[in-house]
Amino acid sequence: MSTASATSEPTAFDVLIIGAGISGINTAYRLQKAFPQYQYAILEARDSIGGTWDLFRYPGIRSDSDLYTFGFSWYPWNRSNPIGEGKDIRAYLQDAMTAHNIAPHVLLKHRVLSVEWDQQRWTANVQNEDFQYQFSSKFIIFGTGYYDYDKPLATTIPGIQNFKGDVIHPQFWPETFDYADKNIVVIGSGATAVTLVPKLAEKADRVTMLQRSPTYLASVTNLSSGGWLSRILPSSVNYYVNRFKRLVLGRLMFLFCRTYPNAARAFLEKRIVPQLPPGVPLSPHFKPRYKPWEQRLCACPNGDFFAALRSGKAQIETDYIETVESDGILLKSGKRLSADTIVTATGLKLQFAGGIPIIVNGEKLDISEKHIWNGIMLQDVPNAALLLGYTNAAWTLGADASMSSICRLLSLMETKGYSVACPSLRDPSKLELRPLLDLASNYITRAQGAAPKAASLRPWTGRTNYFSDLYFATFGNITEGLELTT
Ligand SMILES: Cc1cc2nc3c(=O)[nH]c(=O)nc-3n(C[C@H](O)[C@H](O)[C@H](O)COP(=O)(O)OP(=O)(O)OC[C@H]3O[C@@H](n4cnc5c(N)ncnc54)[C@H](O)[C@@H]3O)c2cc1C
Ligand SMILES: *[C@@H]1O[C@H](CO)[C@@H](O)[C@H](O)[C@H]1NC(C)=O
Ligand SMILES: *[C@@H]1O[C@H](CO)[C@@H](O)[C@H](O)[C@H]1NC(C)=O
Ligand SMILES: *[C@@H]1O[C@H](CO)[C@@H](O)[C@H](O)[C@H]1NC(C)=O
Repeated sequence: MSTASATSEPTAFDVLIIGAGISGINTAYRLQKAFPQYQYAILEARDSIGGTWDLFRYPGIRSDSDLYTFGFSWYPWNRSNPIGEGKDIRAYLQDAMTAHNIAPHVLLKHRVLSVEWDQQRWTANVQNEDFQYQFSSKFIIFGTGYYDYDKPLATTIPGIQNFKGDVIHPQFWPETFDYADKNIVVIGSGATAVTLVPKLAEKADRVTMLQRSPTYLASVTNLSSGGWLSRILPSSVNYYVNRFKRLVLGRLMFLFCRTYPNAARAFLEKRIVPQLPPGVPLSPHFKPRYKPWEQRLCACPNGDFFAALRSGKAQIETDYIETVESDGILLKSGKRLSADTIVTATGLKLQFAGGIPIIVNGEKLDISEKHIWNGIMLQDVPNAALLLGYTNAAWTLGADASMSSICRLLSLMETKGYSVACPSLRDPSKLELRPLLDLASNYITRAQGAAPKAASLRPWTGRTNYFSDLYFATFGNITEGLELTT
């Protein structure tokens, strides 16, 4: 390996964006619209854009969110189905980039190895195939998502080494894997398991979802409701009506669940019971131990999961694994599930800022020790933003609300002549800490220690909700907690 241009000047930009997923693409659009004079680049480690929607290739891969809110407000999702399949989301992202001339700014196969702040500028050390380059910028934006692309959540499945069949992790699904006539056990109960089971059941001989503890499932219709309003409105207006409706209903549903958990539980269960086949009781399989929306609510489009159960090709087991054997799984209850394929849908390993080492004035920073400023910037990290979305609404909404604040900050810096904006916290002891991501899911609670710190009051909060974050972006005190220098 050679290190190119170690002595030459780094390529200079106004802004560097790391990651060409949905957040990075949205950032590029917002940035070039607000600051057409800026030179910017998107550095993307992989050989294509799309992030999550390019990495995950398991059968049936789809969104949980509706694309009216998960897609870009500036590029309407115009398909009739609100829930998008992976390939359609990829195509949509590509089309959005092409339509707005973002593609020429993307540098694929450019992996950021570290970023360093020195003398009022960022330098990114970047690996492109066999070469290393340096790029510099005034401002840097991490659109790196929230999980580790290389390592899923580590879980110990007792006896898994004894298994003679295929063991597949959904994060690395072999695209050529033929699951026709297989006898598959999917371990897990999250969105991935709920997506995989009905899809696999179409061709497999038998699919069993094995869960330790149940999740709340909500059937959603995979067809945008074409009420009378949609027939009289032009399609572009319709899109915004749909988007607004889903924004508000999503928020109300979340608030309802959190405020009236018992009523919410009854509401959700009442919709599940009629979809269950005889012999599959609500309890224990669909009786979660937590309250609705303490973990992400799983969507099942057109009730596909329940249809798979009714077809007899899919089963559900709520039990613990005693040990995996060569051709099946022995459960704690004494029951045995035979299998020739095991899918470990056990979750994501959380990671912030892509795990990229951040060095400020010669010192490497531990982001878990830093407080987050309005869910956007990190304490003591100048001219840098970390795009985080919502866990209880579409991610993109949060990433976009962040960009509204960042654009306001950048234009303030322009007009007032500031070169540096850095969140600075003198007395953290007064803050009342809160988890950065407000969900009790296993993969989130296990990673809480690695996340930046969040508190209960602005400006040291994490993401709140779309309406509050938009209000902040428009009217909030954008300088509070920031140290601005010329
Ligand atoms: C299977 C699955 C389904 C999901 N469904 C939904 C859903 O329905 N609704 C929802 O709101 N959320 C969903 N999510 C969460 C989802 O990840 C986010 O909503 C969204 O796709 C994140 O977009 P992003 O651009 O922020 O991050 P990502 O999509 O993760 O993209 C990050 C990009 O940064 C790049 N990158 C990372 N490190 C570096 C580096 N060092 N150098 C250069 N580039 C780097 C990566 O290669 C990647 O392209 C889902 C997640 C998964 C895994
Ligand atoms: C929908 O958007 C795609 C681009 O993603 C475009 O090619 C197509 O013409 C649009 N269709 C309609 C019906 O507007
Ligand atoms: C949703 O609808 C679209 C379009 O009708 C279809 O292609 C897709 O398979 C459906 N997805 C699910 C999960 O039902
Ligand atoms: C914003 O906050 C700063 C610091 O707390 C304060 O000095 C300033 O007056 C506030 N601005 C407004 C408009 O409230």
